[in-house]
Amino acid sequence: MNAPVNLKDLEVGYDVPALPGMDEADIQTPCLILDLDALERNIKKMGDYAKAHGMRHRAHGKMHKSVDVLKLQQELGAACGVCCQKVSEAEVFARGGIKDVMVSNQVTDPAKIDRLARMPKLGARVLVCVDDPENVKALSDAAVKHGTQLEALVEIDCGAGRCGVSTSQDVVNIAKLIDAAPGLKFAGLQAYQGAMQHMDLYTDRKEKLDAAIAQVADAVQALKAQGLECDIVGGGGTGSYYFESNSGVYNELQCGSYAFMDADYGRILDENGKRIDDGEWENALFILTTVMSHAKADKAIVDAGLKAQSVDSGLPVVYGRDDVEYLKCSDEHGVVADPEGHLKVNDKLRLVPGHCDPTCNVHDWYVGVRGGKVETVWPVSARGKAY
Ligand SMILES: Cc1ncc(COP(=O)(O)O)c(C=O)c1O
Repeated sequence: MNAPVNLKDLEVGYDVPALPGMDEADIQTPCLILDLDALERNIKKMGDYAKAHGMRHRAHGKMHKSVDVLKLQQELGAACGVCCQKVSEAEVFARGGIKDVMVSNQVTDPAKIDRLARMPKLGARVLVCVDDPENVKALSDAAVKHGTQLEALVEIDCGAGRCGVSTSQDVVNIAKLIDAAPGLKFAGLQAYQGAMQHMDLYTDRKEKLDAAIAQVADAVQALKAQGLECDIVGGGGTGSYYFESNSGVYNELQCGSYAFMDADYGRILDENGKRIDDGEWENALFILTTVMSHAKADKAIVDAGLKAQSVDSGLPVVYGRDDVEYLKCSDEHGVVADPEGHLKVNDKLRLVPGHCDPTCNVHDWYVGVRGGKVETVWPVSARGKAY
């Protein structure tokens, strides 16, 4: 999927769910569709917000895994580059021409460190996160071996309880090692609070982020006292970006889900108690599905089941309809309650997936639609790149 795609060589149905110019009604399902108008509005809005707040936006590519979407985030949303979680994901973006690529995660396996250290040869600035002194030496040795430079950020655990050091002293210790290591450049701090993003209440999210900001501010000061400046103080997601943007401490955002939105994220509430998918962001990603059976009067069976989506964060929601409800799924079937019998075989529905990231990861293509027509077809370029 990583070689440039020539759509002319592809056959609808066998290779690809649709081709540009087709009617939306003729798209093969189940597949992912993108409402291009909504996507462009989301991307522009986040870009404008970041700019107005003096922030850079390094869009998170783990969500869409698409070089094409990332390029749109750079063009319309002034994104400065991409965040990835895996070396294999980062390679897809670097090979796809993205020039500023951060692995916002730890890379410790020697084989992956070697791949990471080769990546700058593709013409990209390459950044990685570190929370372990031993890892600094391994990264440095690999960069020296390949004659490249890696930029390294110290990751702080600012509440998510996963990777990252917890004290400013540990931050300083690792930052000094990075600063002194050949082949490495100290780039700053990675401080993403991942555990609060989906909390329903704005006030609960604010409390968590206030604590994170205080912790990060302390680390920045401790580094300054040692003569170490942070080029990047990065973090922030769709449920928190306004806190980081107004902190006076962070200078880079890493939002991902805002661009597509999903049913689970959409339920969280903004400062005024309004769902974030009701004005702040628009649903731009849908699973297009077709009714394949209506043998029971009150139920429609659709062709999007477990293999077309992830339901870890809840079931999908049927978009734009309150007369029908997606009730459950098995591998290839979805059961939709249709109490009044409004649906018929071959009707199509748009489903808002429960969780966008892992749903995108099980599809090969995005079909971009506008005004009822297929405008573009993009590969999910880093689909399955989990290593
Ligand atoms: C390190 C990091 N930064 C940013 C994000 C983006 O978050 P969101 O999709 O909530 O915008 C994630 C998502 O999990 C992440 O892991």
